[in-house]
Amino acid sequence: MRRSLVVGNWKMNGSREKSRALLDDILKGLGQDLKSDVGVCPPFVHLPEVALALQGSSVLLGSQNVADQDEGAFTGEISALMLKEFGCRLAIVGHSERRIIYGESSALVAARYAKAIEHGLIPILCIGEILEERESERTFDVIGEQLDAVLNTAGVASLAKAVIAYEPVWAIGTGRTASTEQAQEVHCWIRSRIARLDSDVAENLQVLYGGSVKPDNAAALFSMPDIDGGLIGGASLDANSFLKICHSA
Ligand code: 13P
Repeated sequence: MRRSLVVGNWKMNGSREKSRALLDDILKGLGQDLKSDVGVCPPFVHLPEVALALQGSSVLLGSQNVADQDEGAFTGEISALMLKEFGCRLAIVGHSERRIIYGESSALVAARYAKAIEHGLIPILCIGEILEERESERTFDVIGEQLDAVLNTAGVASLAKAVIAYEPVWAIGTGRTASTEQAQEVHCWIRSRIARLDSDVAENLQVLYGGSVKPDNAAALFSMPDIDGGLIGGASLDANSFLKICHSA
């Protein structure tokens, strides 16, 4: 049985004070009887604040990206080793906002993913199609290419130490969630594709759904057989909403 995981991606929001307050509220509301794992990915510069507040808690700390290099002349990048110094356990890679707005290629995403694996951070590999690709029935070509870039670089065995997040771009921040059937179809396709290479890895892999997950649709999404939790954007900025989502998993 796969354990479920709910991760808040705070994106570029808040302030040190707000991140700290949000985390305090989340910690207060989580309770002991939670059946899922929970993670939060604050902006890089809020990591020290959040890491301190997380001491002694089981909530996983994550970053919103990770460099494809260890150190040196790579202005603006933050390495896996630096993130680990702050207690990061997770690192989002290949978020659609990085791929689309900042032009990160699948090859670069794969290199970032490989660095996370090399240093023992758990990459949350985001894959997903834009609306036009879905409407022209290219969803599986697109996510297949995004997945293959990582498989060719880091190998299928690396997925035993990683998490995949299916985030249809048309559902992110739009309030338009994929239906449970649409999401399940893609999640099942991802797992089957990996199962062709390694059935054990596929069976144990956590595949999260992201894209307008809210307290009122989370339980239905998480009840699908191949949806193992969520990567939550907007709703993770409100402690009550995020807690309700965590308790639905
Ligand atoms: P929303 O939950 O705001 O749609 O964002 C999803 C997302 O991009 C999480 O990484």
